[in-house]
Amino acid sequence: MQVIIFDDAQQVAKSAAEWVAELINKKSNPVLGLATGSTPISLYKELVNKHKTGELSFSNTTSFNLDEYLGIDGTNEQSYRHFMNENLFDHVDIDKSKTFLPTCNQGENPREQGLAYEDRIVQAGGVDLQILGIGANGHIGFNEPTSSLASRTRIKTLTQQTLDDNSRLFAADEFQPTLAMTMGIATILDARYVLLMATGKNKAKAVKDMVTGALSAVCPASSLQLHENAIILLDKEAASELDDQEYYLWADKQNCKINLEFGLYHNY
Ligand code: GLP
Repeated sequence: MQVIIFDDAQQVAKSAAEWVAELINKKSNPVLGLATGSTPISLYKELVNKHKTGELSFSNTTSFNLDEYLGIDGTNEQSYRHFMNENLFDHVDIDKSKTFLPTCNQGENPREQGLAYEDRIVQAGGVDLQILGIGANGHIGFNEPTSSLASRTRIKTLTQQTLDDNSRLFAADEFQPTLAMTMGIATILDARYVLLMATGKNKAKAVKDMVTGALSAVCPASSLQLHENAIILLDKEAASELDDQEYYLWADKQNCKINLEFGLYHNY
């Protein structure tokens, strides 16, 4: 794991945007894995700005989102499709027919839908860079604690903690889905690079469990310890429970030096 600690959330977003821009500018048919939640909103703002200034075109990009709620459709304002349109897709030149979310509409078979989503990712050449946030309980996507580390795209029942954490986004009388389709942990680990963003004190415990806790389904994000190219971007608050903060800062300086001397090497 490459743990990089920044002073604040804005710097986390800027750094994440650099990773995305590098992929898109380097590869002719980049495949991006996208995430929802409040954390990546500032990343999407950075990407929209880069597009508006002519620095970045998404015209060749294909995207796969981590998850989508069940029981509401893409026109519902609470759907992750709506979130992606509002925060990114409507403001850049991405071809929406190449933007995918793991949906399962009424009457569709969730197992078939899950398999089809996995297939579509493979057909697109696999995810090059998967953006991730982290739940306060250590979930990634909607892979709640005790999700199999070998899981694939499927339905998950959300935990009470996740429902409570996300209830702030729903009006009191609004339907809050309790089920979601989500990429599995194995699906996420298939990406060539994973880039997890975490900001704020309420993520500090989950971040500690992810980086230095035991590899365990109890903390789904700890599965990233198995990934060859896992980049963890943190602000100081999210990093605050890590024991070896000095080491991560020092290691990052060394990596910057190596990159300067030998050039950035990302094996997309
Ligand atoms: C949701 C999403 C996750 C996201 C998490 C944290 O449950 N399914 O992908 O990482 O929330 O969200 P936030 O960034 O709002 O804390």
